[in-house]
Amino acid sequence: MASRAAMMQALLLAALAVGSARAQLHEKFYSESCPSVEAIVRKELVSALSTTPNLAAALLRMHFHDCFVRGCDGSVLLDSANKTAEKDAVPNQTLRGFGFVDRVKAAVEKACPDTVSCADVLAILARDSVWLTKGPFWEVPLGRRDGSVSISNETDQLPPPTANFTVLTQLFAAKNLDAKDLVVLSAGHTIGISHCFSFTDRLFNFTGKVNPTDIDPTLDTEYMAKLRGKCRSLNDNTTVVEMDPGSFKTFDLDYFTVVAKRRGLFHSDGALLTNDFTRAYVQRHAGGAFKEEFFADFAASMVKMGNADVLTGSQGEIRKKCSVPNH
Ligand code: HEM
Repeated sequence: MASRAAMMQALLLAALAVGSARAQLHEKFYSESCPSVEAIVRKELVSALSTTPNLAAALLRMHFHDCFVRGCDGSVLLDSANKTAEKDAVPNQTLRGFGFVDRVKAAVEKACPDTVSCADVLAILARDSVWLTKGPFWEVPLGRRDGSVSISNETDQLPPPTANFTVLTQLFAAKNLDAKDLVVLSAGHTIGISHCFSFTDRLFNFTGKVNPTDIDPTLDTEYMAKLRGKCRSLNDNTTVVEMDPGSFKTFDLDYFTVVAKRRGLFHSDGALLTNDFTRAYVQRHAGGAFKEEFFADFAASMVKMGNADVLTGSQGEIRKKCSVPNH
């Protein structure tokens, strides 16, 4: 009897092992079902970037926002009739490129109907956005499935620009990401732009006093003056600034130089200097002498982030249109 029970248990464990192996993402996931998927996505992106180069930053950020809420399941792409989806929430109102993702998915659907998830299309777009702006290349593990739920309140899992180090590490840890991932992935801010209102509290109202002396003392004073010249008031919601001034279209290591000079745009960027480990990482990479090392770190952290709470196997669905669930 005992040996029969042991055998049953062994069989069950073997079945579970097969199940979890199937649940893993894999770089060659579409090699038979849609071998052209990465070429299609690349072609669409190259063409879009030729007229709209700053789309690259938007797509990298969109993948991050997808992964941090309900895992990388394409939920950030869903529309809601009553404006209660993730994309309607404040942190996502500055996301750009939803229409483009829909167009890329349509091109993929044409070649391989009902095969490639929107979550995977977005993960490939994020990788190509980094690579096409002169950043690292990595193989993207694939096989994510799409969720059909998108709830605006759940975007409280996204780190706000006001976050300190403790809050940042807590929110990253919730996605299985550690302090190294935090400092490495924050360097995504080497490309792209920010609206003034994402950081004007640092310039005009850091402790709620709303007066010209109420400033974030951790921001470099010269840079503060420059930013005040650009962002006219606390509520300036139209002006945008480059996050890595001078090279905001190139994925390089300047982010670390900027942060080391206390010129990171957000309080969360500056917070990387408040912890020994992340400060040491920033200082090591300021100046850009170890580019290969940082590029390898960034690729590894992106793969890790891309694994966050993914749906696989028979979970979720392969959405036909990224903005609407199939049923
Ligand atoms: C560590 C916590 C993070 C915070 C608090 C944060 C916050 C922000 C904010 C407030 C903006 C500007 C939005 C606007 O006003 O338009 C922004 C932009 C951006 N973020 Fe982050 N972010 C974080 C991490 C990341 C990560 C992990 C990535 C990717 C790996 C990333 C990539 C980007 C990019 C590329 C942009 C520019 C988007 C554009 O040009 O439209 N961020 N981020």
